[in-house]
Amino acid sequence: MQKINLSKNKKKFQNLINNPIKQIDKIQIKNKLERNFWDDWSEKFYNDNSDNLASFYESYCYGINERYFVSLLDNISGKTVLEVGCGIGLFSIYCAGKKASVTGTDISMQALNISKKGSRVKNVDKLTTFAQMSAEELGFKSNTFDVIVGHGVLHHFEPHTAAREFERVLKPGGVAIFKEPFGESRSFLFLRGLMPIECRESPGGSIITTKEIKIFKEIFKKIKIRRSAYLFERLGRIQKLDKYRMLLSKWDYLLSSVFPYVSKISGKIIIVLKK
Ligand SMILES: C[S@@+](CC[C@H](N)C(=O)[O-])C[C@H]1O[C@@H](n2cnc3c(N)ncnc32)[C@H](O)[C@@H]1O
Repeated sequence: MQKINLSKNKKKFQNLINNPIKQIDKIQIKNKLERNFWDDWSEKFYNDNSDNLASFYESYCYGINERYFVSLLDNISGKTVLEVGCGIGLFSIYCAGKKASVTGTDISMQALNISKKGSRVKNVDKLTTFAQMSAEELGFKSNTFDVIVGHGVLHHFEPHTAAREFERVLKPGGVAIFKEPFGESRSFLFLRGLMPIECRESPGGSIITTKEIKIFKEIFKKIKIRRSAYLFERLGRIQKLDKYRMLLSKWDYLLSSVFPYVSKISGKIIIVLKK
């Protein structure tokens, strides 16, 4: 089991809500820190997983929220899809497997290199393109994509700039689908952090709050949100419990149905935006 350094954990929680670096005038600094962090992370990931890269691309449905997230991508055959913050390409490759034409973007070149390898290994390289760019400055013409997908990424972006970019590059009637960590109560997050599980967040990341959701609401025509608690499933980060993540996530879902308040202060959210 992971040893917890309480004071280090407390420091991390101070930035989990409203990270001061996530501001319009600090985008360049934030993205430089993020790029370095995710380049290192990706390099380590590749060293640890290069032997079974293909099987990793089957692991997108580890919990009930992820299962719901991919179910929203059922009818994308023939569509143009943009994945923002694609990382090592898990969902770009999933969408290409569904016969969509996919562009995966990220600020980490190391992550994109793994995405390219992954799409070759999974035989979908003809349907995928990967390009290094920041979500706050997308190098595409307006009205280009039918669908935007983002998994665990909005909370790394400066919300005003990214929301405007997503709205710009989506075709009229297009949808953007995100799965994100959500948190509203600092004390709750701190208490949750006392669980013997390491709190992982990159230097520019901070959890999505109601304030950020409001920014997206103002820019998009329609917004739908599905919430679930994220308490039991966190235990799945303990190596021995990893195989029970689906079951643990179902307990979270049940908890949220019985006590909806729990998922309103912290949890996972799926956001669907329509232009
Ligand atoms: C938590 S990872 C998620 C990766 C991938 N979506 C997944 O679920 O496996 C966050 C990703 O966002 C990328 N990222 C962070 N800030 C970004 C930005 N401003 N623009 C584009 N990508 C960014 C990071 O490089 C990293 O690959």
